[in-house]
Amino acid sequence: MWKPAEKILYEAQPGHWPSADEAARARLFQPLSVGRLRLASRTWVPAMVPWRATEEGDVTDEVIGWYRRYAEGRPGAIVVEATGVRDIPSGPLLRIGDDRFIPGLKRIVDAVREASDGKTRLFIQLIDFLAIRRRPEPAKYFESYLRVTDRLRRALGAEDWPEARVREHLRGLPEAELEGLLSARELEALRYGYRERVTDLDLPHIAALPRVLPDLFAAAARRAERAGFDGVELHYAHAYTMASFLSATNTRSDGYGGAREARLRLPLEVHAAVRAATGKDFVVGCRYLADECIDGGSGVEDACAFGVAFARAGMDFLSLSRGGKFDDAKQPAIGWAAYPYTGRSGYECMPARHSDAFGPFGRNVEATARVRAAVRGAGCATPVVVAGGMHSFEQAEAVLQADQADIVGFARQALADPDWFEKVRSGHGDAVRVCRYTNYCEGLDQKHKQVTCELWDREALDAPDATFSVDGKRRLLAPHWQRRPNP
Ligand SMILES: Cc1cc2nc3c(=O)[nH]c(=O)nc-3n(C[C@H](O)[C@H](O)[C@H](O)COP(=O)(O)O)c2cc1C
Ligand code: SF4
Repeated sequence: MWKPAEKILYEAQPGHWPSADEAARARLFQPLSVGRLRLASRTWVPAMVPWRATEEGDVTDEVIGWYRRYAEGRPGAIVVEATGVRDIPSGPLLRIGDDRFIPGLKRIVDAVREASDGKTRLFIQLIDFLAIRRRPEPAKYFESYLRVTDRLRRALGAEDWPEARVREHLRGLPEAELEGLLSARELEALRYGYRERVTDLDLPHIAALPRVLPDLFAAAARRAERAGFDGVELHYAHAYTMASFLSATNTRSDGYGGAREARLRLPLEVHAAVRAATGKDFVVGCRYLADECIDGGSGVEDACAFGVAFARAGMDFLSLSRGGKFDDAKQPAIGWAAYPYTGRSGYECMPARHSDAFGPFGRNVEATARVRAAVRGAGCATPVVVAGGMHSFEQAEAVLQADQADIVGFARQALADPDWFEKVRSGHGDAVRVCRYTNYCEGLDQKHKQVTCELWDREALDAPDATFSVDGKRRLLAPHWQRRPNP
C-alpha cells in the first residue's frame, strides 16, 4: 500500500475509558431517531468484505459467524458487506441478484437479531461494479486480448499486414516504442489489466447503465426487505459504478455526466427506484465519498452538494467515506487485478499507522462535518455517519459533541474487537483490543483471502471454540470476551 513520504509511526491512543455511568450519559450511547432511522446507540459497523461467501455468492456458516460476532457487541447498526446486485460470477462476494439468495441472507438477519437480542439494526450494502481483468502476460495480451484496430495499423504503417503479423511485431517491440503506438487505454490494459469505465459509451452495456441500474438496485432492495433487513445502504463510494457516476472524472455525454447535476442524476434515479420498490418503514441510505482524493476528482464541495441533494431526495442516512479509487492504484503483478486501495486515495480510505503529520485517526472528520453542515444548512435532519481511524471513546464522543457527525463508524476497530461497544458501555474499556492500524486485514482483503485480524492470533489460539482459516493458521473469529463483574 502507498504510504505518506513522512512515514511517521502512530500508535492508537485510546486515552480515558468511561465508567459505566459516564458511558450511560454519553451521546455515543444515546438512541437516535430521525425519520425512518432508529438506533439504540450512535455506533455503527461499516461494511467490510470478509471473503467468506461461496464462489456462487451464497452465504456460508463463516459469513454467519462473522456477523454474529459483531452482533454480540451490540453496536447500533451493522452494515453487511458490499453485496452484488447482479447475478454474475464475482468470486466469494455475496450476491443478491436473484430470489434464490434470500434464504441465505435471512440466516444473517436471524443470527444478528438473536446475538444482539434485537438491539442492533441491520442493513446490507448494495453494490454494482464494472468489469476488471487481471494484468495479462504481455505475450498473451498481444496474441489474443489486444484488438487490432485501423488506428493501430495506421500508426504502425501496417495497413495491409495480416493480423497475425501485426500481433507478432508488437510483441517484439520495446516498451518505449509501444508507448508511441498504443492508445492510453491499450497501454493501461497491458500494464494494469483491462478495466471498464462508465464513460465507455461505445460499449452498449455501459451506455445502457442508466436504463438498467435503477431496476437492478430496486429488485435487490426488495429482496433485502424480504430477507428481513431493516434497510439498505446504496454503495455510491470508492471505485465502483455509482461512485464513478458521481465522480468529477465522469464525462458521459448522455445527460449522466459532466455537470454536478448530471452526475447526480443516476444516483438519484436509483434511490427513487429503490424507495418506490420498498415499504414505508424500510431504511434507504447511501455511502459516498467526502473526497475522492485523486487528481481531477470530486472534492468536499461536490460532496456537500451531493449530500444536500440526497437529503432532499429523502435518503435516510448519509455515510461518508473517502478515497479508494482505481485512478491512482499501483500496478498489480502479472496475473493479479488492480486493487483500488493501493494508491494515495486508498490510503485515505483505510489510513494506516505510518502516516503524515495529520496521522491516521479521524482523517475524514473535517470533510464529513462540512457535508453535515451543508445538509443542516439546507434544512435537512438526515443523520450523517463518519468513519476512518475511529477507535477511542473520547474521539467518538468529541465528534458527536461538536456536531461533526451523528453516528460514528468503527470498521477496523470493530474487526479487531467486536466487543468494543459492550466493553465501553459497561465500563470495561480497558479490556478493549485496540486496533493497531497495521492493515494486515486489508492485505488479506486485497488477496481475496478470508479476512481476519492479526491480534486475534496472539490470544487463545488453542481455545476449544476457535475455528480457523483454510490455511489452518489464523483464527476466523475474534476471541470471546470473558466479562468481569463491574467494579
Ligand atoms: C477488510 C475490509 C473490507 C472492507 N470492505 C468494504 C466494503 O465492502 N464496503 C465499503 O464501503 N467499505 C469497505 N471497507 C472500508 C471500511 O468500511 C472503512 O470505510 C475503512 O476501513 C475506514 O474505516 P476504519 O478506519 O474504521 O477501518 C473495508 C475495509 C476493510 C478493512
Ligand atoms: S489486522 Fe487487526 S489490528 Fe491490524 S488493522 Fe486490521 S483490524 Fe486493526
